[in-house]
Amino acid sequence: MNPEEYVNTLFVKEDDLLAQVRHTIVDRGMPAIFIPPEIGHLLGILVTISRSRDVLEIGALGGYSGIWLARALPSDGHVTSLELNPEYAELAHAHLNQAGLGDKVHYEVGPALESLEALKQQGKTFDFFFIDADKENYPAYLEYAVALARRGAVIVADNALFHGCVLDASNDSPGARGIREFNQQFATHSRVTSTLLTIGDGLAVGVVTS
Ligand SMILES: C[S@@+](CC[C@H](N)C(=O)[O-])C[C@H]1O[C@@H](n2cnc3c(N)ncnc32)[C@H](O)[C@@H]1O
Repeated sequence: MNPEEYVNTLFVKEDDLLAQVRHTIVDRGMPAIFIPPEIGHLLGILVTISRSRDVLEIGALGGYSGIWLARALPSDGHVTSLELNPEYAELAHAHLNQAGLGDKVHYEVGPALESLEALKQQGKTFDFFFIDADKENYPAYLEYAVALARRGAVIVADNALFHGCVLDASNDSPGARGIREFNQQFATHSRVTSTLLTIGDGLAVGVVTS
């Protein structure tokens, strides 16, 4: 047993419903690009310790991460989830309903950059952000997150190591470039204190300090 297996076996509790959600996504022929259970478990802990009430998720897929996030919220908490694909958003909502959390989440369907601009125009603010959509736009998603953040808000982004591609200088794919730029921006942002956890595919975690 390696250290990751030891930790995951001991600490991470994925129930039958969450496992079923993963299976349904795969059975429907959707990409199996949901977060692993250990990241879901960590997201829940981060939502809880930050006492977050309003969560913004970028990239819903079938609602797997949405369930972990919504479960950690207080009774008056809410998740706004941005998803490009209407069928994915519909399935995600069905899964949140199945988990008894349907009234805690709503989906904005369309390109996330447009939804983020609309949220900014409406003066909306959030205290927790989970970025997990198209990697090319991570740098722009970060700037929107900072703009929409309440003081002390938490920003989390998945795939911050992008399967090791960020370490390979010869990899010039749009995704690798997007994540590299995001990491650089996140590490040096004047309004954010951040780090990159080497859990899963890399989880960038930061707090908005001003
Ligand atoms: C990695 S998956 C999200 C997985 C989900 N967070 C989970 O762990 O269960 C990325 C999602 O982002 C969506 N997406 C991709 N580009 C997008 C865009 N420009 N705007 C909004 N959503 C986008 C995809 O349709 C996909 O559902």
